[in-house]
Amino acid sequence: MAYWPPSCILIAFTLILLQSSSITAQNGGKLTVGQSLTAATSNGSLLLSPSGDFAFGFHQLPNNNNLFLLAIWYAKIPDTIVWYANETNPVNLGSSVTITANEGLFLSDPQGTPLWNTADKLSGGRTVNYGFMNDTGNFMLKSSDTDDAAWESFDHPTDTLLPTQNFEKGVLNTRDLETGFAYHPSYQSYTGNQTNPENAGDSVIYSESGDLYIEIKNGSRFDLTPASILVSDKTNYQRVTLDFDGVLRWYNHPKIFAANKVVNWSSVKSLPDNICASTAITPGSGTCGYNSICSIGEDNRLRCDCPPYYSLMDPNDTYSSCKPNFPQYDCDEYGQGATKNGYQLKQLQNIDWPSSDYANLQTITEDDCKSSCQNDCFCAVAIFSKDGQTCWKKRLPLSNGRNYGGVNRIVWLKTHHKNLVRFIGFCKEEDPRLLVYEYMSNGTVADYLFGDLRPSWTARIQIAQGIARGLLYLHEECSTQIIHCDIKPQNILLDDYYNARISDFGLAKLLILNQTHTNTAIRGTKEYVAPEWFRNKPVTIKVDVYSFGVLLLEIICCRRSVCMDISEEGAILTDWAFDCFQSNTLAYLVDGDTEALNDTLHLERYVMVALWCIQEDPSLRRTMKRVIQMLEGMAEVASPPCPTSFTVTTQP
Ligand SMILES: *[C@@H]1O[C@H](CO)[C@@H](O)[C@H](O)[C@H]1NC(C)=O
Ligand SMILES: *[C@@H]1O[C@H](CO)[C@@H](O)[C@H](O)[C@H]1NC(C)=O
Ligand SMILES: *[C@@H]1O[C@H](CO)[C@@H](O)[C@H](O)[C@H]1NC(C)=O
Ligand SMILES: *[C@@H]1O[C@H](CO)[C@@H](O)[C@H](O)[C@H]1NC(C)=O
Ligand SMILES: *[C@@H]1O[C@H](CO)[C@@H](O)[C@H](O)[C@H]1NC(C)=O
Ligand SMILES: *[C@@H]1O[C@H](CO)[C@@H](O)[C@H](O)[C@H]1NC(C)=O
Ligand SMILES: *[C@@H]1O[C@H](CO)[C@@H](O)[C@H](O)[C@H]1NC(C)=O
Ligand SMILES: *[C@@H]1O[C@H](CO)[C@@H](O)[C@H](O)[C@H]1NC(C)=O
Ligand SMILES: *[C@@H]1O[C@H](CO)[C@@H](O)[C@H](O)[C@H]1NC(C)=O
Ligand SMILES: *[C@@H]1O[C@H](CO)[C@@H](O)[C@H](O)[C@H]1NC(C)=O
Repeated sequence: MAYWPPSCILIAFTLILLQSSSITAQNGGKLTVGQSLTAATSNGSLLLSPSGDFAFGFHQLPNNNNLFLLAIWYAKIPDTIVWYANETNPVNLGSSVTITANEGLFLSDPQGTPLWNTADKLSGGRTVNYGFMNDTGNFMLKSSDTDDAAWESFDHPTDTLLPTQNFEKGVLNTRDLETGFAYHPSYQSYTGNQTNPENAGDSVIYSESGDLYIEIKNGSRFDLTPASILVSDKTNYQRVTLDFDGVLRWYNHPKIFAANKVVNWSSVKSLPDNICASTAITPGSGTCGYNSICSIGEDNRLRCDCPPYYSLMDPNDTYSSCKPNFPQYDCDEYGQGATKNGYQLKQLQNIDWPSSDYANLQTITEDDCKSSCQNDCFCAVAIFSKDGQTCWKKRLPLSNGRNYGGVNRIVWLKTHHKNLVRFIGFCKEEDPRLLVYEYMSNGTVADYLFGDLRPSWTARIQIAQGIARGLLYLHEECSTQIIHCDIKPQNILLDDYYNARISDFGLAKLLILNQTHTNTAIRGTKEYVAPEWFRNKPVTIKVDVYSFGVLLLEIICCRRSVCMDISEEGAILTDWAFDCFQSNTLAYLVDGDTEALNDTLHLERYVMVALWCIQEDPSLRRTMKRVIQMLEGMAEVASPPCPTSFTVTTQP
């Protein structure tokens, strides 16, 4: 640790007091050894170049008046910093920078603790006599007027190059933030040819006239600045900045400052032209984060967008990776996953993740490409090219995402569960408050089942299976287990393709994963409500299984579960279904439904599954997983006991 004798502190302190007024162009842009600048909220903390174009000193951070950067900036243009010291670590109000003979620039905090200096950068161990803010924007430490600078900010560029500043060989590449590992360069053409060092670029020259070019070892030069964008340095400020998005941009700013004229920097060229398209295909996320899509916005700036049904890993950072909003399937080593069936692929336009392929299927149809992805648990995205009849399958994490201008391509992204209505958002400002769900064109299952026309038996089977899959998702596949609590035909909607979609999560009770039951006041709609609700017993996901059982019977019979118009014995569907099952007279249940009667195998199985679901004893009810296996014929269905044989001992 550096030792500061008390007398030095005293001297520095005295100097600060002497220095209270602004050091301006009067002293010719010079700050002599022993003099300091102090971070202050007044204008006392800067040194102007002779022309007044550039300032050196403490630049207040825009969002915090008490923090400053030791920097060089355009004195006549707000907030355009061209150089800064010590990375981007800001210093506190009251910090100071002093010119010293042996350290050059010496930055310390308000308590005098040293933070940064240029000691080990001074060329040839020279001592410093003064600092000079050159009109070029170069802050120089000099021994004498005739010597070269002992240190100059131009030799230690941060993100900006100014005319007359040269730049040694280097590449732009994406880096891993944690370890700093450099991935493949995103722009390399000016670094020369490795196999022919004679042809290699040596340095980048930024001429006084604003021409940026590469000086090649063989003596020729390679222009980076098109002649068309060159402007006079008499009338314009010019700079080249490596912006936050990894793009090198040329900026011009007129030197006219009329009171009523708003002028600003304009970006006249960028390199690479399209940062999204230029990222080499190597490991790493590409320009944006993983699963993100890179594009160039209207303001010529980088944009990173998450695909539909994905959201930012860090909501505060629009350039962070995106994570899927839906759960990931358990894939076995052959890419098989039981649950992927329920997911829907969404078609997108003009997007590609060129480096995430794991399969390439040739001479294939569009439909086969889509279903190949649908049935493959690894597949996150499928892209079909109509030209080549080619199908690329891609898996997570997706990298190098970008817009792809080509036509004749179809992109599918796998997205959300097809048996749930997607929640879009809510309005809390309005009264009444609104929950907004995606629009379902074909109404409710209640209207569909109990309308004038009886839907076909096959359509009903599809709907029953869809509801079961949606419930399985809520119960077992969500990251947080969800009990819907109000499964009834009015809450199941039908989309354009008559897929059943569970909606109205208004009553849903979220359960912490490891909790197996919850006690809660009665919810739901009476006919569909499991008996334990009324008995003040613990409520579990099995309440949804009960409601599903009642609904399944309604789907089978195309009638409401309670219907007083029918004969007394048939008024309560749940009771009647068991009677018919037991007496082997299922035909009464589906009276006149020839399709159902023609399919006795399914009819009987569905009724039996429903009876298992409506058992009064929740432990006898099957899980939704088992229910689906039984409905799909993947599991045997045992003969169900009488649903009400469960005797209740608790007092009301
Ligand atoms: C600092 O200088 C700028 C421009 O030179 C001026 O607009 C501003 O009012 C000054 N601020 C103070 C606190 O003197
Ligand atoms: C930069 O500043 C921080 C704190 O402001 C300090 O801890 C660090 O050592 C400085 N870095 C260098 C390279 O001097
Ligand atoms: C300021 O920069 C110009 C251009 O590089 C140079 O010719 C001049 O000598 C510099 N001034 C001082 C005092 O070093
Ligand atoms: C590099 O130089 C060699 C030898 O002159 C040449 O054959 C090769 O094509 C060059 N490569 C590139 C990328 O220019
Ligand atoms: C120098 O190298 C560049 C880049 O390879 C080439 O285009 C140019 O013709 C070469 N010039 C001479 C004089 O060899
Ligand atoms: C100038 O441009 C910058 C960046 O494009 C913008 O943030 C700033 O608001 C602009 N200033 C004015 C005065 O238009
Ligand atoms: C995002 O920023 C806000 C406000 O700065 C902060 O409270 C919040 O913790 C941040 N969130 C994350 C995920 O970093
Ligand atoms: C169901 O949706 C399709 C597609 O939007 C529409 O053509 C059809 O008329 C709808 N049917 C009913 C009964 O609303
Ligand atoms: C259940 O979850 C709670 C909160 O998440 C946790 O504190 C508790 O340890 C968990 N219990 C078991 C048995 O996992
Ligand atoms: C009954 O099923 C058979 C074979 O499954 C089929 O050929 C026949 O058309 C069906 N009849 C009715 C009325 O659905």
